Amino acid sequence: MGEITVQNLGNLTLNVAAGQTVLAALQAAGIDWMHACGTKGRCTTCRMIIISGQENLAPDTPAETRFRANGRLQPNERLTCQAQISSGAVVCRVPRQTQLPHMVYNDGR
Ligand code: FES
Repeated sequence: MGEITVQNLGNLTLNVAAGQTVLAALQAAGIDWMHACGTKGRCTTCRMIIISGQENLAPDTPAETRFRANGRLQPNERLTCQAQISSGAVVCRVPRQTQLPHMVYNDGR
């Protein structure tokens, strides 16, 4: 089991179960997060910016590898619908481009 903290959602912290994606843990807690392709690994709108704990994430999935190869996923980004946490804590942020209009993000706007 791991832990995800979303810095610009007021440091919201959730447990992520073994085998559970970060997005599934967010959804289980009732947190809205953009996921335009419906978690199929086909968009990148569900991405998160990793602030710390990158080493605690499971390796890239094939979808993430593909987006990394074509430049649509940066080295400090992961897809929440793909990424699982091996153990330990991960801190992330929601990118500005994928923030939802009805949510309040505390990133200085
Ligand atoms: S929801 Fe589309 S890649 Fe994650």
